[in-house]
Formats: sequence, C-alpha cells, structure tokens
Amino acid sequence: MGEALSKEAEASTEASAAAEVAVASRITGTGFSVPDRVVTNAHFESYLDTSDTWIRERTGIVERRWVGPEESASSLAEPAARTAIERAGLQAADIDGIIVATVTPDYAFPSTACMLQQRLGIDDALAFDVNAVCSGFVYALSTADAYIRAGMCRNVLVVGVDLYSRIINPNDRGTCILFGDGAGAVVLSAVAPEEQFAHGDTLIRGSVQTTAGIYSNLLGADGKHSSILCVPCGTANQPTAESMATDAHYLTMEGREVFKLAVRKLGEISLEMLERFDLPSEAVRYFISHQANERILLSMAKHIKVDAARIPMNLDRYGNTSAATIPILLAELDQDGKIDSGDLLMLNAFGGGVTWGAILLRW
Ligand SMILES: CC(C)(COP(=O)(O)OP(=O)(O)OC[C@H]1O[C@@H](n2cnc3c(N)ncnc32)[C@H](O)[C@@H]1OP(=O)(O)O)[C@@H](O)C(=O)NCCC(=O)NCCS
Repeated sequence: MGEALSKEAEASTEASAAAEVAVASRITGTGFSVPDRVVTNAHFESYLDTSDTWIRERTGIVERRWVGPEESASSLAEPAARTAIERAGLQAADIDGIIVATVTPDYAFPSTACMLQQRLGIDDALAFDVNAVCSGFVYALSTADAYIRAGMCRNVLVVGVDLYSRIINPNDRGTCILFGDGAGAVVLSAVAPEEQFAHGDTLIRGSVQTTAGIYSNLLGADGKHSSILCVPCGTANQPTAESMATDAHYLTMEGREVFKLAVRKLGEISLEMLERFDLPSEAVRYFISHQANERILLSMAKHIKVDAARIPMNLDRYGNTSAATIPILLAELDQDGKIDSGDLLMLNAFGGGVTWGAILLRW
C-alpha cells in the first residue's frame, strides 16, 4: 500500500514537472522553389549604364531568377510547400495553419495563403498573409511558434515568397539589379513536453524549454523610416496613367540609408539575442541572414565578431528574394546535409517598414 502510494506520488510529481514544460515548436521539414529563368548581370549591361563588375563588387550578386508571365506567388510557393510537407513526413491534411510572408501577393485579396491552401487541397486550416517585407519570414515563423505554443495549431506551413520582378523599375539601376523571385517553406510542428528532453537536457540558463526547436524570437519595427524603401502606390495613392508613365508606381529605395540601417540593426539584434542566453557568437553554427547584399553581411560579421564562414550566402545565385531568402537558404543547407541535429542557428533579417527580427533555434 505504502509502495503503491509512493509510486502514485512519484507519477504525480513527474506529471507536474512535465506540465511546467510548455509545448514548443521545431522545424520538421524544409523546401524551396525558384523560377527556371536565370537573369545574369549581362542582362542589365545590355540596356543600362552598369556592369557585371560593379554589381558583383557592390552587392555580391551574379545572377537571379525571375518568373514568367504565367506564374504567381502561390504557384511558386506550391512546390516549396509540397517539399517541406513531404520532408516533415506529413500529408497536406495534417497542416492546420498556413502563414505566408509576402509583399507581392497574387491579389489584394484573397490572401496568398488561401490561394496556396486551395492549390494544396487543404480543407481545414487557418490561413493568412504577413507583410513585414524582407523580415517577413522571421515574423511569420515567430507567429507560427506563438500559435503552436498557445495550442492553436500543431503543424503550421510557413512560407516566404516574393516576386520582385513584378514591382521593380527596370530602368532604375540602383534597385533592379538587386532582386530575384523565389519561395521557401518550412513546416513548424508542435513538440510535446515529454518529447523535448528525449535527446538529453541542453537547457541554457534554465530559460529554454526544448532541446530542439525555437528558443526565442525578437521582432521590431520603426515606421518613421517607411519611405526609404517602399512601393508608393496602393489605396493611399492609386496608380494613374500619369504615375505609370513616370514609373512612380515601382519600388523606390534610398540604398545608402537602407544599407547603414541594415548593418546597424542586424548587428544589434544578433548581439541582443546572444546576450539573452549568455552565448558566445561561436556557439551559433550558422547565422542564416537575410540575403540582401554581401557587404551588409560581411559588415554584420565584423560587428558581431563571427567568422564569415558561419554566415552562409546564396545571394550570388538568387539575389535578394525578400521574404524568401531565409527559408530558401535554410532549405538548401538542410537538403545539402550541412546542418546537424543539435546545431544552434540564428535567423536574422532587416527590411522595409523598416522591420527587423531574429530567431534562435536548435536544429
Ligand atoms: C544599392 C546599393 C548596392 C548601392 O551601392 P552603394 O555603394 O551604396 O552605391 P551608392 O548608392 O552610394 O551609389 C554610388 C554610385 O553608384 C551608382 N550606381 C548605383 N547603382 C549602380 C549600378 N547598378 N551600376 C553602376 N552604378 C550604380 C550611383 O548612381 C552612384 O553614382 P553617383 O556617385 O554618380 O551618384 C547599396 O546601397 C545597397 O545595397 N543598399 C542596400 C540595398 C538593400 O539591401 N535593400 C534591401 C534591404 S532589405
């Protein structure tokens, strides 16, 4: 009887210890998709006052991909999403949330998330878009993490997709050379408390609740800089025949200002995230950073004192695909077997708005 009671007491202590550990989330699958059409720097040399050398030296970009007229954000996102779902070992029907980060949606509405839902044949899931420009994927992934922790979803498809070829001014040499089209996707899944310590306890300062998964999110914005990178047409400023004739409906950017702010903010948020966990920068295997410009990333590396080898880049091949850069890079590293279970990764981004965000996670 006494023994039985003590076993019960033990079981209830274990149960309450497990109850203190909340549900967490981890990435279970990745995928990406880029258009077939390759646009090299020679394309711009052919009609603008620019050169392959200038573009490579000032940005690191060698080529990018642009969609054809029949493609859309949801059509480009579909194969990325299907790959992520398959690699997560799930069926489309297992997805109960779809969050798409994009500023180049198929339509003003319905959302690209709903268009993608239809393409994937998912009947029952919440679905919406997030607009945080180049920080969009980090915002979307943080949102999915919060929904999972709140018990609202178990498997969220998180997509970053953008088609900047549709919004750049082909005659503005300061912007048109920078951007490409692409889509990246992950499945973020709930990890039950009892699964979290299956691979050994690797708590950092006791504040981290899972051995694999998202540890912490840091998001921010400063709308007073909204005009330095924007597409100045919408319901506040509807395109007219006159604005179209003067290219006033295209993306505009104060490149130097964006550059300075991006370097400062990416450095600040990366250091703040490391400080939250008392981590040296060497503890992070990769900084999966928004791919805007090689010089921005090398300056960030200097600022946070990390070897540039730990800041992987693919912007030479894809340019800046806005919300898609981080999930494309993550999917490439994952599919190439370059991320090991247990690796700490930091995702960080800066974009129009201006917005910024960082996520620390263990793979
Ligand atoms: C756009 C960017 C590459 C320009 O590089 P930069 O070294 O800052 O160049 P500047 O803007 O200072 O311009 C220097 C000169 O190069 C010229 N220039 C700009 N684009 C050029 C191009 N494609 N080819 C040749 N010359 C170019 C400018 O007109 C300027 O000429 P000027 O001195 O006669 O006026 C750079 O500012 C940048 O990457 N900014 C951040 C962009 C970004 O990442 N945006 C997205 C953030 S999410």
